Amino acid sequence: MITGGAGFIGSHVVRRFLKKYPNYFIVNVDKLTYAGNLANIKDVCTLPNYQFERVDIVDAQAIQAIFKKYNITDVIHLAAESHVDRSIEGPMDFVMTNVVGTVNLLQAAKDSWSGDLQNHVFHHVSTDEVYGSLGEDGLFTEKTPYDPRSPYSASKAASDHFIKAFYHTYGLPIKLSNCSNNYGSHHFPEKLIPLMIHNIQHNKPLPVYGKGENIRDWLWVEDHASAIDAIFHHGRMGESYNVGGLNEWTNIELVKHLCSLMDQKLGRPKGESEKLITFVQDRAGHDKRYAIDASKLEEELGWTPSISFEEGLSKTVDWYLENEAWVNQVTSGAYQAYYENMYGSK
Ligand code: NAD
Ligand code: DAU
Repeated sequence: MITGGAGFIGSHVVRRFLKKYPNYFIVNVDKLTYAGNLANIKDVCTLPNYQFERVDIVDAQAIQAIFKKYNITDVIHLAAESHVDRSIEGPMDFVMTNVVGTVNLLQAAKDSWSGDLQNHVFHHVSTDEVYGSLGEDGLFTEKTPYDPRSPYSASKAASDHFIKAFYHTYGLPIKLSNCSNNYGSHHFPEKLIPLMIHNIQHNKPLPVYGKGENIRDWLWVEDHASAIDAIFHHGRMGESYNVGGLNEWTNIELVKHLCSLMDQKLGRPKGESEKLITFVQDRAGHDKRYAIDASKLEEELGWTPSISFEEGLSKTVDWYLENEAWVNQVTSGAYQAYYENMYGSK
């Protein structure tokens, strides 16, 4: 079972596993919220080793039923409410999906695998935001104490604690990964990089929060998928692994870099797109800096990022310019109506 497989990162994980492991039968469990879109995996959804189930992980009975129906052997859990700004507007969806939904999955796995725990894996995909905010120096390691500061990161931290609690209390075979900011194709355009690409393309203001001095550590989404693959198969049981590529950028430097890249790609005069930068009110409780030390993952499992940020960003911009129909679909809300029509009665 892969949860959240119609979302940004989940779709890359589903695609990688379906193609690389044709002997695995993958059940993609996703509620299809505004962030879930079956178009994200349309290139692989007809493969014989794939099945989609529109299920809300908050629905404990429905989750138990999926475990029984498919005799689920392993879980990679990505389904979540993922956007910090939305969590500030309304925390309760984050509590329900990220905390209650995760505990429902853990409970179903425990019930279903009892007596045979050693032959299964429950891999929980989490975030570096659980560690809080860094100052000028230092990196998050797996030993950094949890210090979540937004409703989103508090809900992810709570889910991580439940994952570890089920390991220690019931011996559930869990693995946990905490990754830095991802970028790449199929990223919902409410997040910084796809939002900026969209707005640059359409000559709309580029809303930079505060002074743009906050720092994020960016990783190519397919490198996150390869890290999940490595940890799921070879990581030690009960362990956390940090995932990141030592690639820190202030938001303003990143937005300027995107402007210059897109000036070249769109044939605009140098400096043209930067004029769109607009400083807006800062995010409440805005974490200053995230940066990941991934040496445990590199040393134990031999994982390394596959491409440079410049190359990944260039590919990402190309993907968005070539897939405007996808962006229009996810931003117009038309796809929501389509899926209500397709799956509303299920
Ligand atoms: P996303 O918002 O793009 O996708 C989330 C998916 O989960 C969607 O398909 C959505 O429909 C589904 N979902 C939401 N609520 C659900 C529910 N109640 N039941 C079933 N499905 C539900 O998120 P993403 O950016 O792909 O993140 C995936 C996971 O990775 C999350 O757990 C997130 O916390 C974690 N993560 C994200 C990043 C990042 O930079 N995006 C970095 C580190 C970790
Ligand atoms: O670190 C991992 C996390 O990265 C994931 O767990 C989250 O799911 C994911 O959404 C992401 O969280 P961020 O809050 O870091 O990502 P976001 O793209 O929302 O913002 C990145 C930075 O850009 C942040 O400092 C806020 C800033 N920002 C964002 C938006 C949307 C702006 O300045 N302007 C904007 O319009």
